[in-house]
Amino acid sequence: MVSNLFKIKSVDKLLSESDEKGHKLDKALGAFDVTMIGIGAIIGAGIFAMVGEAAVKGNAGPSLIISFIITAIACGFTALCYAELAAMVPISGSAYAYSYATMGELVAWIIGWDLIIEYAIGNVAVAISWSGYFNDFLNNAFGVNIPLWLRLDYRTFVQKGFDLAAAPHVFGIPMIFNLPAVLIVMSLTALLVVGIRKTSRFNDFLVLIKLAVLAIFVGVGFYYFDIKNWTPFAPGGWKGIQVGAATIFFAYIGFDAVSTVAEETKDPKRDMPLGIIGSLVICTIVYILVTVALTGMMPFLELKNKIAEPLIAGLDYNHVSRWIIVIVALGSVVAHTAVLLVFQMGQPRIFFSMSRDGLLPKIFARVHPKFKTPYITTIWTGIFVAVLAAFCNIDEMANLCNVGTLFAFVLVCMGVIVLRIKDPGRTRPFKAPGGFLTPVMGILFCVYLMMGLDRVTWFRFVGWLIIGLIIYFMYGYRHSRLNENKTLSN
Ligand code: ALA
Repeated sequence: MVSNLFKIKSVDKLLSESDEKGHKLDKALGAFDVTMIGIGAIIGAGIFAMVGEAAVKGNAGPSLIISFIITAIACGFTALCYAELAAMVPISGSAYAYSYATMGELVAWIIGWDLIIEYAIGNVAVAISWSGYFNDFLNNAFGVNIPLWLRLDYRTFVQKGFDLAAAPHVFGIPMIFNLPAVLIVMSLTALLVVGIRKTSRFNDFLVLIKLAVLAIFVGVGFYYFDIKNWTPFAPGGWKGIQVGAATIFFAYIGFDAVSTVAEETKDPKRDMPLGIIGSLVICTIVYILVTVALTGMMPFLELKNKIAEPLIAGLDYNHVSRWIIVIVALGSVVAHTAVLLVFQMGQPRIFFSMSRDGLLPKIFARVHPKFKTPYITTIWTGIFVAVLAAFCNIDEMANLCNVGTLFAFVLVCMGVIVLRIKDPGRTRPFKAPGGFLTPVMGILFCVYLMMGLDRVTWFRFVGWLIIGLIIYFMYGYRHSRLNENKTLSN
């Protein structure tokens, strides 16, 4: 039995299965689309919302710029590893498939299960944040406010001290849930069922808007820049920089999502490395410019007054005209939408791969006859994310997403090392430079960031993995296509 758990699926087998009839995805994407998908996934709640918390939490202040650079380096090492694997094994399962080819079925299952935390739980956090900004936009542009009981979860509602009597009650139970978050997730799910080509065009459009809005913010920020706001530059010292780096990690998550569309890319050998590394580099530059502008246009402690909307706080502080605030609020809604779109697209493709391997029920691998999309998994992902977004708390979801993603990154870096040792002769269209240094540094940086997360997050993470293992032994182990003859007794 134990040997079955570590049985690997060869790279050749992975590649040939992705060509099977009925399970084949449409190849429609080029290098530009892939880079845009990366930017679409990366720039969102992190830079528009969490940057305030990251600057204030450990007193990083202006030195948050250094935190951004440190996290970018951590992600850079991992991105190089992702690029090597995605170019070599261009199939939709991403980190899940790479671990199947390197560390065996059990580790593959664990990572597939863990990626649900990155994609689906991450999206729960982004959908909740989307809802907050959407209300801000409505409020600033039209003076409309969605009632609190219709745009918050129960815990946040109570924590913020709002009056439960204000919410309608059904059989004595207060009806408090996040309706805008549910509606945006369900709308994007419908779009994704219709097809990737149309979706990718929509993504390009969203990415252009959010880059333009951030450019406006940077322009305004530089105009009001005052060097006095940079003194002291690092009020929290190195500790503050470290806390900032761990918190802001969420802003970088997404470059790896590029690898989930590898199977739908025309020339993955070239497009995967370009898309993964290119989107990470572009976003790092944008993030540093935004942080320079934000910390230069106001004393960072002023952020405490409007921690959930830091960019708006910077504009408010300088009494910038109202229509610029409306544009930035709308840009933030758009940016969140783009992140939601890419993550909603990535998650079903991982389920799809797991199902094609027999680890999840076969129905999950069904491709829509007309739209050529993995529609069953897309719809289930939409339902899962929408239900959680209706009732969950954003901070808990974001932290859980961080730990799960860092864990996946560690396994991907390990996968590069294992595959180089086991299969040194295989053609690597892209090879991460520096020998083993890149994956080893990737592992060290990610573990360092993981250690910065709180204990409750770790407990939740371990609990999630245990549930996953139970499901594996009850279903996946018995149905795996790799070991079709095996039984639990062998
Ligand atoms: N990086 C993504 C965001 O900032 C998850 O929203």
